[in-house]
Amino acid sequence: MSKVRFDDRVALVTGAGGGIGRAHALALAERGAKVVVNDYAVSITNIAENDNRAQAVVDEITALGGEAVANHGSVADPEGAAAMVQQAVDSFGRIDVIVNNAGINASDAIQDEPGPAYASHMGVHLEGQLMTVRAAWPHMVSQGYGRIVNTSSAGALGFVQPDGTWFGSYAIAKGAVIAATRQMAGAGAPHGIRANSILPLAISRMVSPLIPGTPTLDYMERFTGPEHIALGASILASEECPVSGQAFSISGGRMAVLVYASPLGFSDAEITPEKVRDNWGLVMGEQDELHRLGNFYEAVDNAFEYTLLQRAGIGAEVQL
Ligand SMILES: NC(=O)c1ccc[n+]([C@@H]2O[C@H](COP(=O)([O-])OP(=O)(O)OC[C@H]3O[C@@H](n4cnc5c(N)ncnc54)[C@H](O)[C@@H]3O)[C@@H](O)[C@H]2O)c1
Repeated sequence: MSKVRFDDRVALVTGAGGGIGRAHALALAERGAKVVVNDYAVSITNIAENDNRAQAVVDEITALGGEAVANHGSVADPEGAAAMVQQAVDSFGRIDVIVNNAGINASDAIQDEPGPAYASHMGVHLEGQLMTVRAAWPHMVSQGYGRIVNTSSAGALGFVQPDGTWFGSYAIAKGAVIAATRQMAGAGAPHGIRANSILPLAISRMVSPLIPGTPTLDYMERFTGPEHIALGASILASEECPVSGQAFSISGGRMAVLVYASPLGFSDAEITPEKVRDNWGLVMGEQDELHRLGNFYEAVDNAFEYTLLQRAGIGAEVQL
């Protein structure tokens, strides 16, 4: 079996000083990519932590025989985003892959007035992912090649936290990432640029505090490593990436496309509310193709992918 490789490819991974980002950087470097390891070193709630986690990951990569450089800028800062792409070009001569992974979770609720958390989520999750791509775009167009992996979240599908709070701007920004990715895919198609997004679930410092002392935490520690996300998503970052514009649910070794579907539905040129009411089953696709897409509804109803992972047989024996 031929190996998926990244020889002569240059990748920027944002938020790569820990968690899933670190796993992306290690996986790409291990398969031959030269990597810019970016991390702004903030807490989950976006407070500066002033450590050198990006350099620590660079040191890990070089110790394993790979090539990497550290970048400490913020993706939410236009100059910072441009500089990390420029660093890839200056250090390694090109930019082939962007893995937009940097993230925070400064919890706000959907009914809250937009405040600092709203601005941070839009800045890091949405603007941050747009700005790195914008900076890399001319390089990717001129070389006729690019791979973009954006990070969304199952939170975009509707997510209630264990304390009963529904996500606010985190989910909104992550939903917008899926839309932005589809636009990038369309605009990139004539230039050999492919863009996809992932909805990961992996044990990390972002998740553990939400479920302390629970069987779910134990389950996630055993079965949902960050390396599973990186290894699944690597195909999307590679020359062999088979699609563009899609979103993928990835956790614990399971990877599945997220389906956007609309059934034949109900149609009547003389539509009225009464006709819609009386044909509700058609509107909802109950008599149509959608009944075969049960797992799509499950993805929406069970934002935590571990339910689907267990159904796929991984850790199925664990009682949650
Ligand atoms: N862990 C999960 O289960 C999960 C689920 C859904 C989505 N996600 C998403 O996956 C991504 C990685 O999450 P994680 O769990 O590894 O979190 P993490 O907190 O371990 O890592 C995120 C990293 O991003 C860095 N960062 C934050 N803001 C930045 C900025 N402006 N510029 C550069 N770096 C910045 C942080 O310093 C941190 O090191 C995030 O986008 C997150 O929203 C994670």
